[in-house]
Amino acid sequence: MFYSSSILLSYLATAALASQPSASDPIPAPLRDLKWGQLNFLHTTDTHGWLAGHLQEPSYSADWGDYVSFATHMREKAEAQGWDLLVIDTGDRVEGNGLYDSSEPKGIYTAEILKQQHIDLLSSGNHELYKQNTSEAEFLTTVPNFRGNYLASNIDIYDPQTQQLVPLAPRYKKFTTKNQGIRIVAFGFLFDFTGNANNTVVQPVEETIKEDWFQEAIRDKEVDLFLVAGHVPVRSKEYLAIFKEIRNIRWDTPIQFFGGHWHIRDYVKYDTQAYGLASGRFMETVGFMSIDGLSTAANPSPKTPSFNRKYIDNNLFSYYHHTGLNADTFPTAHGQNVSSLIEKSRRALHLDLVHGCAPKDLWMTRAKYPSEDSIYSWLEKEVLPGSVHDASRADKPALAIINTGAIRFDIFKGQFTQDDLYIVSPFTSGFRYVKDVPYSVAQKVVEVLNKQPQVFTEASSSGAQRVPLTPPEQLAFPRDVEYEDSNAAASIDLRKAAPQVPLSGDSKPELVPGYTTHDDAGNDGDDTVHSPISFYRVPNCIQAFVPGPSEGSSEPETVDLVYIDFIEPYVTIAAKFAGLDVDFQKDAEVYMPGETLTSTLLRWVQKNWECEQ
Ligand SMILES: *[C@@H]1O[C@H](CO)[C@@H](O)[C@H](O)[C@H]1NC(C)=O
Ligand SMILES: *[C@@H]1O[C@H](CO)[C@@H](O)[C@H](O)[C@H]1NC(C)=O
Ligand SMILES: *[C@@H]1O[C@H](CO)[C@@H](O)[C@H](O)[C@H]1NC(C)=O
Repeated sequence: MFYSSSILLSYLATAALASQPSASDPIPAPLRDLKWGQLNFLHTTDTHGWLAGHLQEPSYSADWGDYVSFATHMREKAEAQGWDLLVIDTGDRVEGNGLYDSSEPKGIYTAEILKQQHIDLLSSGNHELYKQNTSEAEFLTTVPNFRGNYLASNIDIYDPQTQQLVPLAPRYKKFTTKNQGIRIVAFGFLFDFTGNANNTVVQPVEETIKEDWFQEAIRDKEVDLFLVAGHVPVRSKEYLAIFKEIRNIRWDTPIQFFGGHWHIRDYVKYDTQAYGLASGRFMETVGFMSIDGLSTAANPSPKTPSFNRKYIDNNLFSYYHHTGLNADTFPTAHGQNVSSLIEKSRRALHLDLVHGCAPKDLWMTRAKYPSEDSIYSWLEKEVLPGSVHDASRADKPALAIINTGAIRFDIFKGQFTQDDLYIVSPFTSGFRYVKDVPYSVAQKVVEVLNKQPQVFTEASSSGAQRVPLTPPEQLAFPRDVEYEDSNAAASIDLRKAAPQVPLSGDSKPELVPGYTTHDDAGNDGDDTVHSPISFYRVPNCIQAFVPGPSEGSSEPETVDLVYIDFIEPYVTIAAKFAGLDVDFQKDAEVYMPGETLTSTLLRWVQKNWECEQ
């Protein structure tokens, strides 16, 4: 065991710059300016514990402390003009990074770091609700940390002290902005999620908006803006339903939506007075939004507002540019304190501990699957065959199935640290198996998992929706299956998606590869002008054949059908389609007790990826 050289350097480095000491410096790139207005917003979503920023990627290398400094300067800049600035976060703050996942209990460091930012409005994601103790930590820590600003329009929780079912947080609030006097009614939604633990209740959005309190809230005549923050894709039946419900009552009050969940940058026009912004994932993006021409308490006559958006790359180069400051003037004392709190937390959690060295980059969706550079091909060909073995089934061949969504991030060439382990594989799921399945039937199960759209329909009604099989980014792409929503208004295209699309030809060589977003307002949304990155589709699941000890090259008659436990609802349905008659409740058992995908990966890396000294 040894530590990366970067942590040693951190003791030598002076504290002139913020960011984490081991983070790469940002690379200068051409930038587009922000367009300010009466009311301005900064928005994060799906941060998944990445409060230290991306240490290996210069474009996203600023940390939460830098974001604290940035928000402070942006607020001052707005206030100097008599304008307002609101900071929003729309959930999935937990799970997906060692800073959250590797502490015991989970999240004790991130909760402390997160609360250092002044956030005006926040909501819960689905990840806050998968496990009972995660939602209880939300209820007992995060909601009080942001008292009055955390909203839960459609989530209830059984209070761990009283066992009473109570709202996770207030349903909505009305407030008036400090400088402009803009009267805002704000909500905090979660999409129609069904995979939560049974200590919380998520009411479908379509039902919530028929409730009396919502109907009363949208009938308030003294409102200049409806603000809908939520962990909801901006192109979704849920947001469309909210939009229509408000418009039925208030035909011209401006509405601003903030959304997330799909991990993409996107901007949707619902009508000329209603827009929605999605601000990516993992602290790569800080969304900026401004609205100008709103009515106010002092000046209530209707106006025609204009809306503007930008996606800011989370790095110091962008932050300096948009604030007009530099390395000396940008960091605030509070921001620097937060950066140092992050550094201390990372050190306490040994996140820089090196487990091995990756010989090259391995990509989730930037490389074709299958290929040499695909992380999934690497798992199929190298990791799984070398590590999936249950001692009690040692003489049996196995077919191992993993959903592609179980892997959460790329692997970069070089040191593979404790942090990287949690970044790539944050989930705590283990393996289960059904013994002695005819090989051809086992292969059919994988085929069904990858091909049959019916699997998703059935699985989502039986709770499998708790685990999307693929990485979330892919959910945003037009699917082979038509999006079924006969009620959808023609006003927005539910299938249009905006992540990095493979493009070629027009990129200038000096540009840094990154987001090149196309949304309802055009192609100028990204603050940084990037060259495009390819995005390749991946299957729902990958498979690896693990031969038994006596296996020659001939195919076995039967195999153990091994799968990641949290896709069991999908596997159950696929098995039925494939003609495999088993009762998973009775016939499936734990495979490799005590092991998880994460521990399996760790063992493989330690054994196979030596670092050159
Ligand atoms: C929830 O319980 C698990 C298992 O005991 C533990 O590892 C985890 O840290 C707990 N999470 C929280 C937020 O307390
Ligand atoms: C949740 O499920 C557990 C076990 O599955 C059960 O003991 C408990 O009573 C349930 N809680 C609620 C609030 O339904
Ligand atoms: C920074 O941290 C120090 C030590 O914890 C504390 O005394 C100081 O008040 C903090 N300053 C700010 C601006 O947060």
